[in-house]
Amino acid sequence: MMTSTFSIPAHVAIIMDGNGRWASARSLPRFEGHREGVHAVRRTAEAAIRLGIQTLTLYAFSSDNWKRPKTEVRALLLLLRHYLLTEIEECRRKGIRLSVIGRRDRLPGDLIPLIESAEGETAPGSRLHLRLAVDYSSRDAILNASRNARTREEFTHALGPDVDLLIRTAGEQRLSDFLLWECAYAEMVFLPLSWPDFGEQSLREALAAYGRRVRKFGGLAAVTGEALEYAPS
Ligand code: FPP
Repeated sequence: MMTSTFSIPAHVAIIMDGNGRWASARSLPRFEGHREGVHAVRRTAEAAIRLGIQTLTLYAFSSDNWKRPKTEVRALLLLLRHYLLTEIEECRRKGIRLSVIGRRDRLPGDLIPLIESAEGETAPGSRLHLRLAVDYSSRDAILNASRNARTREEFTHALGPDVDLLIRTAGEQRLSDFLLWECAYAEMVFLPLSWPDFGEQSLREALAAYGRRVRKFGGLAAVTGEALEYAPS
């Protein structure tokens, strides 16, 4: 196994983009791109465990995705249902704790008990916390959190941990209402490849780019601190 020489981000979040383009480029219906995307989800979760990532948050269905044609929405929700039905045992075996973030009240009724049992059955998993964002809007999550949370700590408790590394595939460079609060100091890596082509190698590439970044959180970099503190006359 290859060893890593860079620091590993505790929380990686991914905007899995480009499924439709991947399918269109192969003259396939868009659904096939999403279906292939589920294989990439599996590969990425396994790679995340091997690499020592603690939390992986994946954007599976945004609240704005309801605007897509009904057939595509149905296909995405069917894939989610299928994933929950077939992967739970694997998740348990691999020590993956699965959570779903986002609204539940607009999801098909039969999906909710499936989500609840997936979360319950995988709760002891301690090797990776895999969070799937479904009917998710970060603005809505922040609005909801603000009903009770008043301090930064309370917001973090309500929303989830800060993101260290945000990856978006397929070349777009925007957040699209994903983890806006949590990404306050995230390093962002944009990769040109489509999500169905993503796997361990691309994750390693993103981690290597992350390892080359100097994270300052508004302060000064440890090595260059002295130079940066020099006040110009
Ligand atoms: C963006 O690609 C991707 C999505 C809107 C859905 C992502 C969903 C999956 C990978 C599968 C479902 C996941 C699980 C865990 C069951 P796009 O369709 O917007 O791509 P395009 O920009 O090329 O059209």
